[in-house]
Amino acid sequence: MKVDVLLGLQWGDEGKGKIVDVLTPNYQVVARFQGGPNAGHTLEFESQKYVLRSIPSGIFQGGKINLIGNGVVIDPALFKAEVEALEASGHKLIDRLYISKKAHLILPTHRLLDDAYESAKGNDKIGTTGKGIGPTYTDKVSRNGLRVGDVLHNFQEKYDAAVEKHKLILAQYDFEYDLKSLEEEWFAGLEKLKSFKLIDSEHFINNQIREGRSVLAEGAQGSLLDVDFGTYPFVTSSNTVCAGACTGLGISPHNIGEVFGIFKAYCTRVGSGPFPTELFDADADEMRNKGNEYGSVTGRPRRCGWIDLVALKYTIMINGVTQLIMMKSDVLDAFDTINVCVAYNIDGKRTEEFPFEANEEIQPDYVELPGWKTDMTAMQSEDEFPEEFNALLSFLEEELEVPIKIVSVGPDRAQTIIR
Ligand code: IMP
Ligand code: MG
Repeated sequence: MKVDVLLGLQWGDEGKGKIVDVLTPNYQVVARFQGGPNAGHTLEFESQKYVLRSIPSGIFQGGKINLIGNGVVIDPALFKAEVEALEASGHKLIDRLYISKKAHLILPTHRLLDDAYESAKGNDKIGTTGKGIGPTYTDKVSRNGLRVGDVLHNFQEKYDAAVEKHKLILAQYDFEYDLKSLEEEWFAGLEKLKSFKLIDSEHFINNQIREGRSVLAEGAQGSLLDVDFGTYPFVTSSNTVCAGACTGLGISPHNIGEVFGIFKAYCTRVGSGPFPTELFDADADEMRNKGNEYGSVTGRPRRCGWIDLVALKYTIMINGVTQLIMMKSDVLDAFDTINVCVAYNIDGKRTEEFPFEANEEIQPDYVELPGWKTDMTAMQSEDEFPEEFNALLSFLEEELEVPIKIVSVGPDRAQTIIR
């Protein structure tokens, strides 16, 4: 069977966790392929709310194998905390969670380096989640990284050598730190990590495919945070786009099946960087309050703005999206009118192509559609959709040229309408 991929088409926080959880009944394996504990995938069901950071969102349904792929970076301390919280709420993971030996480890010093680099950037800071993501991927690419498989032999020696290098870098920054206490937590986490199945995940996943099992690859962050195609340098340090599923799991492009592209009915962004349709008015406050747009990892208020079809067409193209999933439409229930950005004006020129630099010069070109002014949160089927909402769906499908197959009208698993 082919591997289906689910990914975010905006700047993250589109609601991937909820949708993976909704889709998992159809799959036997759920795999994360990039990112790390910078992610916060929120799931709500039976009046409980969970936030997953490194662990795939398939763990809430029995009988599934969950895989952390080679493209992911893992912080053992945060991993341990996440596992223990899940176990405390009755979700046993030990036989259902496998970890790639080729996944890279986030060391305590990577977290310190993340902080040091950010403070040195001053006003140009990226607004990272401070989890050591950038420095860990930097070490991976510069061939200085440590991998999960390294814990099996002479680990202390390799660890000490890596930390010595990091200390030399840290010494160049005016920066105080307490490595000892971080290390204690980290090594306790490492013991926890070692109790899981550490596997050659590329062989495992290809065997699964060959044996006809269905696999869902779960993306983290969003396509506009991709290190190649996002709003560089205000991006994360991994390939969040569909191609990342190939490198982050070891599967061939031939083996990709459906590509589910998930987007919100509006836009948000957390951290710095361009955001052409950003709003600073009461509409933004309404989106933030009603949509509870606060970072699930850092608690930061998210920046909010109108939906941006220039950006969406771009990420649909890069990812080869075959089905769209629209989230949080209920957040717009009270709006009189909905704005949809269909083009950018840059230096007096109109374009529908996402530019090299999506900076402040951009003037969005909006189409205004009437709002539906109806509470949609209890709706169970598309037959109940208000006329104005159907008009918005048709407009989006025509512009984006991909069908919208799922509409989410609230955070709960039950508030999901399949079309
Ligand atoms: P980093 O991934 O921690 O290096 O952060 C780089 C940028 O990506 C910052 O703007 C973060 O706010 C953003 N970012 C990282 N992970 C997520 C996520 O899961 N959702 C939304 N934004 C994220
Ligand atoms: Mg999130």
